[in-house]
Amino acid sequence: MENKIIYYDEIDSTNTRINKLAKLGACEGTVVWADHQTAGKGRRGRRWESPAGTNLYFSILLRPDIEPEKAPMLTLVMAYSVAKVITEQERLSVQIKWPNDLILSKKKICGILTEMTLSAREIEHVTVGIGINVNTTEFPEELQDKATSLYLEKGSLVDRGKLLHRILEEFQKQYQRFLGIQDLSFLLNEYNQMLINKNREVLVLEPGWKYQAKALGINQKGELLVRKDDGSEEAVFAGEVSVRGIYGYV
Ligand code: BTN
Repeated sequence: MENKIIYYDEIDSTNTRINKLAKLGACEGTVVWADHQTAGKGRRGRRWESPAGTNLYFSILLRPDIEPEKAPMLTLVMAYSVAKVITEQERLSVQIKWPNDLILSKKKICGILTEMTLSAREIEHVTVGIGINVNTTEFPEELQDKATSLYLEKGSLVDRGKLLHRILEEFQKQYQRFLGIQDLSFLLNEYNQMLINKNREVLVLEPGWKYQAKALGINQKGELLVRKDDGSEEAVFAGEVSVRGIYGYV
């Protein structure tokens, strides 16, 4: 997979742009990178604030030959790849909040939004969009205890282009491994070591109801295994559910 990178100073959303390019027949591996997004999208219909000149916003087009049920695993493959690069390159020990938020000092530094388009129950394409707080020097007051940046954690500026290239290189490697076995067994141990939820009480938010349980780690399908108070165990599927700590975000 070659990465053709298309750069914009300003765009509505890199995910939206990739979705359009995919419809026009763009190849797997096409990347849209923007300095500024005017309508950056977060998970659950939220906005992703995307000011100019500071952070990384990019999306990659994938056309994996896998069953649609397996597509949410791609988000974990990306989360793992970004966490690995930041840990190795920036010497910061990133943690993962299942399934795909990256955390430093208990605050979010990266979010991932995966969108899948089907045609006749087969994957037409998958768009994986990544937003990383890179060189933000100050967050608005309401975000200060929830968000941080690489700059704030390291104390020095990070080259966004270099970071992007390293992430694409690492993802390429992990994506090929994933396509080979079509489950997450190859990254299970390392992912679970970085998992901030592990052995913590979490609130599992299912559509329509919620319950408290202890997070045990992910399985090879990328589901979060949790143990409820009555001792029973559940595998929570990433597509529909989110978890948070019982006292706050993590
Ligand atoms: C989240 O809510 O945690 C996911 C945030 C994903 C943001 C990125 S920024 C690049 C790409 N384009 C978008 O519109 N969203 C994703």
